[in-house]
Amino acid sequence: MLCHCRLLTSALRSVSCLAYQSQHRKMYSSQNLTYSVWSKKIKSLKETPRKRFNTDSTLMMAPQASSTSQRQELSTEPEEWRQPFHLPEPELDWDFLLNPENADMIYKNISNRKGIGDIYKVLNLSKELKKEQDESKKESLRQLLVSEALDIPNFSHPDTVIGDESQAKVVEIVGKMKELKFPPRNVSDLAGRGLRMLRDENLTFSTGAKTYYLEDKLAKLERALVAYTIDRLLEKGFELVSVPDLLFPGVIDSCGFKTNSGRSQVYQLHEKCLQGACLAGTAEMSLAGYFMNETLAMNELPKRMMAVSRCYRAEAAERAIEKGLYRVHHFTKVEMFGLTAHEDGKENEQLLQEILSIEKELFSDLGLYFRILDMPTQELGAPAHRKYDIETWMYGKKMWGEISSCSSCTDYQARRLNIKYMSPSTGQLKHVHTVNGTACAVPRMITSILEQNQEKGRKLPLPQVLWPYMDGEKEFNADMKKSWFTFIKSLRQDA
Ligand SMILES: *[C@@H]1O[C@H](CO)[C@@H](O)[C@H](O)[C@H]1NC(C)=O
Ligand SMILES: *[C@@H]1O[C@H](CO)[C@@H](O)[C@H](O)[C@H]1NC(C)=O
Ligand SMILES: *[C@@H]1O[C@H](CO)[C@@H](O)[C@H](O)[C@H]1NC(C)=O
Ligand SMILES: *[C@@H]1O[C@H](CO)[C@@H](O)[C@H](O)[C@H]1NC(C)=O
Ligand SMILES: *[C@@H]1O[C@H](CO)[C@@H](O)[C@H](O)[C@H]1NC(C)=O
Ligand SMILES: *[C@@H]1O[C@H](CO)[C@@H](O)[C@H](O)[C@H]1NC(C)=O
Ligand SMILES: *[C@@H]1O[C@H](CO)[C@@H](O)[C@H](O)[C@H]1NC(C)=O
Ligand SMILES: *[C@@H]1O[C@H](CO)[C@@H](O)[C@H](O)[C@H]1NC(C)=O
Repeated sequence: MLCHCRLLTSALRSVSCLAYQSQHRKMYSSQNLTYSVWSKKIKSLKETPRKRFNTDSTLMMAPQASSTSQRQELSTEPEEWRQPFHLPEPELDWDFLLNPENADMIYKNISNRKGIGDIYKVLNLSKELKKEQDESKKESLRQLLVSEALDIPNFSHPDTVIGDESQAKVVEIVGKMKELKFPPRNVSDLAGRGLRMLRDENLTFSTGAKTYYLEDKLAKLERALVAYTIDRLLEKGFELVSVPDLLFPGVIDSCGFKTNSGRSQVYQLHEKCLQGACLAGTAEMSLAGYFMNETLAMNELPKRMMAVSRCYRAEAAERAIEKGLYRVHHFTKVEMFGLTAHEDGKENEQLLQEILSIEKELFSDLGLYFRILDMPTQELGAPAHRKYDIETWMYGKKMWGEISSCSSCTDYQARRLNIKYMSPSTGQLKHVHTVNGTACAVPRMITSILEQNQEKGRKLPLPQVLWPYMDGEKEFNADMKKSWFTFIKSLRQDA
């Protein structure tokens, strides 16, 4: 009875705490809800204390005094928690990859992208595998072949320009550069020293470099941007999903991000925690992982989803130009993710163009001045077939800074995660195609909005589309300057 009782008393304590609150201040309906949930919990504990826990365990089989056995029953992990994670076997296009006639073209595509992956090594390994007689050597050769083949990147779109960043094609420039009659300030100056609502320096006391606090109205602006973006995407038929931020490394690798390379961008928990799960750098990994090993019906496609998540990135590069709110270890982002069929061969290109036009609409309605770039081969990550970036003019850094990008990954991720659909034309299972795009990466949106809208006398008008989400607040101005917290004593070094 021990554990059972402890749960019950803690439940009762919460309830009496609520009762205390109701006597001493106004009761809120959410507290009423909490109360009713708790009373239900207590009831179910009283009636069916056993059914809620897993009884199928060897520990339970051993004869025990009843109080001990019940304690063990409650402390035994559910069976499900002990299941190890397994990735599906990747279903690569082996006929294509192992056809020697394709080798030179594949080689050329990889070298144009400056990608890793060696098609000739793949071919050699496959020859060796054919010759090998010993079964155990065969298996290790096969594994080596698969891991080498997984390094081969996707192909670039035929219209993608060959070259590095400088070859990016400007597709369109939206909005106008404002003629400021004063030296423009950066976001750290405007929102930090100016409004005292941003702390992006001297943070050694809690989180160190490349981290930040948003306070007061700036924290509210973050919420407003997210809410505005969600509302617009809901109108466009995107389904909102709230995703986990912790993912097994296999899922992240299958999306085309290396978790185990020396310069990995991915934070990983200790192997004893959650099988060494990683902190997701972006929500579409969780969305892609959701569909692992699943087959969709044709009428589900194209599938449009969005997720708001906290994104975590190791960001090892040290460049002074990326200081401040620019390259940060954590941020909130709304991401779009889509799955398409591959029947007429145009579906994923269409969804990519749709996502790009949504990004354009979201940012131009916010009044931003930006440009759309068709990215060249060397800028494509391993999974990408084609990629567009959107950059705003950042007055503080006097440069174009990326605020969003979208890519089509064709079947690259679906082949690794085993995501399929039933093709109505052939009745066969085919791999879906995936597309993703950034709808709102908060720190860079805040930077763009504040730096582009700054006026003389520290006035910062807010975009009209955000007013309803800011409780009618139309601008930030010098009068809103927050006072610092009053600490009566500080031992901090930066004080
Ligand atoms: C909460 O529940 C109590 C008791 O049922 C009721 O008197 C009170 O009006 C409720 N408060 C709110 C805000 O709904
Ligand atoms: C996916 O399917 C494969 C079989 O193809 C299986 O071995 C694997 O455990 C599955 N993984 C997950 C996470 O469901
Ligand atoms: C593949 O095998 C050929 C002939 O055995 C050899 O010359 C070549 O160096 C090998 N290439 C790679 C990348 O292993
Ligand atoms: C990359 O894309 C092409 C077509 O877009 C697809 O057929 C191929 O399987 C993909 N390559 C890899 C290595 O995933
Ligand atoms: C390989 O790359 C070239 C140049 O980027 C491109 O024109 C060609 O279509 C690519 N091949 C495939 C199969 O995608
Ligand atoms: C950060 O610390 C430096 C050096 O102590 C100081 O000059 C600067 O004013 C501090 N910045 C803020 C925003 O407190
Ligand atoms: C912002 O501008 C101020 C003053 O012009 C400068 O001292 C500071 O280093 C800049 N901050 C960033 C992050 O660029
Ligand atoms: C999403 O897009 C980026 C670039 O726009 C690409 O590098 C990445 O692989 C994509 N990620 C996922 C998980 O789809």
